[in-house]
Amino acid sequence: MIEVKNITKRYGSLTVLRDFSVDFDESGVTVILGPSGTGKSTLLRCINGLESIETGDILVNGLSVLEKRNLRSIRLNCGMVFQSTILFPHLNVLENLILSPMKLLGVKRSEAEEQARYYLAKVGLASKEEARHNELSGGEQQRIAIARAMIMNPKALLLDEITSALDPEMSVEVLRLLEKLASDGVTMLIVTHELSFAQKVARRVLFLEGGSLIADASNEVFFNDLKFNNERIARFLQHINQ
Ligand SMILES: Nc1ncnc2c1ncn2[C@@H]1O[C@H](COP(=O)(O)OP(=O)(O)O)[C@@H](O)[C@H]1O
Ligand SMILES: [Mg+2]
Repeated sequence: MIEVKNITKRYGSLTVLRDFSVDFDESGVTVILGPSGTGKSTLLRCINGLESIETGDILVNGLSVLEKRNLRSIRLNCGMVFQSTILFPHLNVLENLILSPMKLLGVKRSEAEEQARYYLAKVGLASKEEARHNELSGGEQQRIAIARAMIMNPKALLLDEITSALDPEMSVEVLRLLEKLASDGVTMLIVTHELSFAQKVARRVLFLEGGSLIADASNEVFFNDLKFNNERIARFLQHINQ
């Protein structure tokens, strides 16, 4: 579904991703791990066409990010949620949710509202449809952001450290939701530093460092074999667990 082919991404003289390739064709959850500053966010942003690439190509459902006219479809296929979410402050939750389906997909208001309520219930926030941004906790805002991405019915959700700005309690509520979505079979690419969560939900684990893929393994291989056999991964797992 997503084919990243030998891409290079630079910011000025800094090469963030070098001759980088990876495919995501399976359903289920892929977790992307790695130290800060190694290009994890950049990779997700390139897939979504939010960043240009210097060389190589990325295909999403066969459509290249290099063609401007494909970007709309690519972004519809890949719903993205970031570390912190800003809902439109002058709109309530329900209005925030129906905006894109109505504007981008031409869904009728009544139908969009029905879908919005369906996804609000899915993220456990049916009671918050009238709330505004400043009346929601950080965890609730992130769950709304997930509902807002899902209502567009994307093929995959790209989630970039969506719990890292939350206190532990709220983080848990968002991670629980992601576990539930994972067990529903939602395809997700998740950048996270939450290792026990990663181990619980990931089918596949990628480890990035210095703009390269150091490991690409099944959950079992990553957290059992590589944890003991790969010195770099052992160090990372130990460091992050402290
Ligand atoms: N817009 C930008 N302009 C310049 N440098 C950037 C920009 N975005 C990210 N970088 C740099 O690219 C590298 C990778 O960043 P990022 O993909 O955000 O890493 P990660 O998500 O793994 O922490 C970092 O060194 C970061 O400082
Ligand atoms: Mg990042």
